[in-house]
Amino acid sequence: MTGIIDVHTHYVPKGWPDLSTAAGGGSRWPWLRVDSERDAMIMIGSDEFRRIGENCWSGERRLAEMDRDGISAQVVSPTPVFFCYDRPVDQAVRVSRIFNDLALEICAADPDRLLPFCQVPLQDPDAACAELDRCVTAGHRGVEIGNHVGDRDLDDAGIEMFLRHCAERNVPVFVHPWDMPDSPRLQRWMARWLTGMPAETHLSILAMILGGAFDRLPRNLRICFAHGGGSFAFWIGRVDNAWQRRPDVVGTSRQPPSSYVDRFYVDSVVFDPRALRLLVDTIGPDRVMLGSDHPYPLGEQPPGQVIRANPLLSDSEKAALLGGNAQTFLGATPPGS
Ligand code: CO
Repeated sequence: MTGIIDVHTHYVPKGWPDLSTAAGGGSRWPWLRVDSERDAMIMIGSDEFRRIGENCWSGERRLAEMDRDGISAQVVSPTPVFFCYDRPVDQAVRVSRIFNDLALEICAADPDRLLPFCQVPLQDPDAACAELDRCVTAGHRGVEIGNHVGDRDLDDAGIEMFLRHCAERNVPVFVHPWDMPDSPRLQRWMARWLTGMPAETHLSILAMILGGAFDRLPRNLRICFAHGGGSFAFWIGRVDNAWQRRPDVVGTSRQPPSSYVDRFYVDSVVFDPRALRLLVDTIGPDRVMLGSDHPYPLGEQPPGQVIRANPLLSDSEKAALLGGNAQTFLGATPPGS
């Protein structure tokens, strides 16, 4: 795998069994209302969630768009609304298996360029580890997880056990915000996506630092946070100040929070060249990777533009962000190489 690698894209399969008839299915199951050959609506029960196109489910269409956009390979991750962490574990296991197997079918169009990341029933760490192992054996290249399971953050003992398992299996982890808090104030202007997602990701990085997860987990864990790590990079000074000034409450990590930035990766989808420069300066030029959130509306078009057209990055930094760092993160050689 060489060239330009997009580590943050999503898929939705075109067809899956009617989950509402599953044992104990109940209401509000995700399903796809196919409106034409090229358009569909993700439905949650009877509610419209998001309009999508065939570039979600067609491997050939994805490859054509990658050729158009100059992308060599892309990580193909689940769409978080299908995680099902709030359901009984047997239902979440069933959904994970269905979607993970369908992801392999999409990526079969070119397994060297379409790199599937699986989802796991993270509410049950043992079941999550089992599904991860099944998927890695079947051809998945990593795992995407939500940034929390209900009130449990990434420093929860069970989730930490799963992350340790990923490190032991040498499997990269992509953390995506999801299940953002809701209120009438957050229902305007996509506020849950515009302010909620960056805050959620910031909180998850803090949980791994201040919750001690990075102190306990092995250094070889490769974990990446979506959307440039949310608001974390801009506010790391505030967190360090709090760690120094309020050690009674915040001083729960062995080292100052800013010293943990070499333990994780972030993607580049921050849109503004100055924001990306700050991210590279804060997290490190070897820790930021092209991610676009393709093909969704809040993603970057064309993917990687904020890197390629950025006058504040050197050529060597651009090369690292466009593909070199992702090769390290993915940690695998392609089949046949
Ligand atoms: Co995304």
